[in-house]
Amino acid sequence: MKPTALITGASGGIGYEFAHLFAKAGYNLIIVARSELKLQQLKSELDGHSVTIIAKDLSRPGAAKELYHQVRDHGKTVEVLVNNAGFGLNGPFEDLPLKDQQNMLQVNVQALTELTHYFLPDMKESPLYDIPKGILNVASIAAFQPGPRMAVYYASKAYVLSFSEALVEELKDTDLTVSTLCPGPTSTNFFKNAKAEHTKLVNRTMTAKQVANAGFLGFIKGKRVVVPGTMNLSLSYTTKFVPRSLAAKLAHYMDS
Ligand SMILES: NC(=O)c1ccc[n+]([C@@H]2O[C@H](COP(=O)([O-])OP(=O)(O)OC[C@H]3O[C@@H](n4cnc5c(N)ncnc54)[C@H](OP(=O)(O)O)[C@@H]3O)[C@@H](O)[C@H]2O)c1
Repeated sequence: MKPTALITGASGGIGYEFAHLFAKAGYNLIIVARSELKLQQLKSELDGHSVTIIAKDLSRPGAAKELYHQVRDHGKTVEVLVNNAGFGLNGPFEDLPLKDQQNMLQVNVQALTELTHYFLPDMKESPLYDIPKGILNVASIAAFQPGPRMAVYYASKAYVLSFSEALVEELKDTDLTVSTLCPGPTSTNFFKNAKAEHTKLVNRTMTAKQVANAGFLGFIKGKRVVVPGTMNLSLSYTTKFVPRSLAAKLAHYMDS
């Protein structure tokens, strides 16, 4: 029997690439996003693999619990949870609609936390396989510093990193791996959706394939935190040694 990987945000970008990588490595898939048509397209590309589609809007409170029960109703258990769905919003905090920011927190933070809560006990109970079980959370290099004009997004990713690193310690005596992928700018729909296409960040992007590949390999090797790309890695180190007020100024500059 093969283990199952549930991937949120699999309809495009990094999550789409994750789906290909996990399928190729021998996992059955459950793919989740709002765009059912795109998920169907992905399923057809993965012909020959076991792929279950669950269309779900994770910004709706209660969606994570519904998703867990739908997975159970399909008679499936999840051995790998990839919390990848997420989005950003660019603009001064006070100008961005509160409802949009709440939705972002619901997807980036709340759904990720709740899905982990619901699936973790089953993951611990499931048998050992010859490929890893565990959680792969997608944060960002935004997790390492405050981000003016994307204040809530940066804070949401700091939460993801802190939460995930705490779980590494809590679960160290289990057979589960917990990895956090911290991508830098990546060419996906992210910047368009965040209305951040004007920023300097878009000038130094990696491809979604490169980023997903780094995250997947890091997870397979049991790495705690994965920062893809030499430039992103050195930035993530640098931010540890500069005052947070200066790091915030730099992030503000990059946003212009
Ligand atoms: N691109 C970057 O520069 C970058 C950098 C650092 C971190 N990240 C992180 O990487 C992750 C993937 O983003 P991406 O770059 O691949 O962007 P993307 O191409 O926009 O993909 C985002 C994915 O999340 C899904 N999603 C968004 N809102 C959702 C909702 N309400 N319910 C369910 N699914 C939802 C989208 O599917 P639907 O629209 O079909 O729902 C899509 O599959 C995110 O967590 C993002 O914060 C991205």
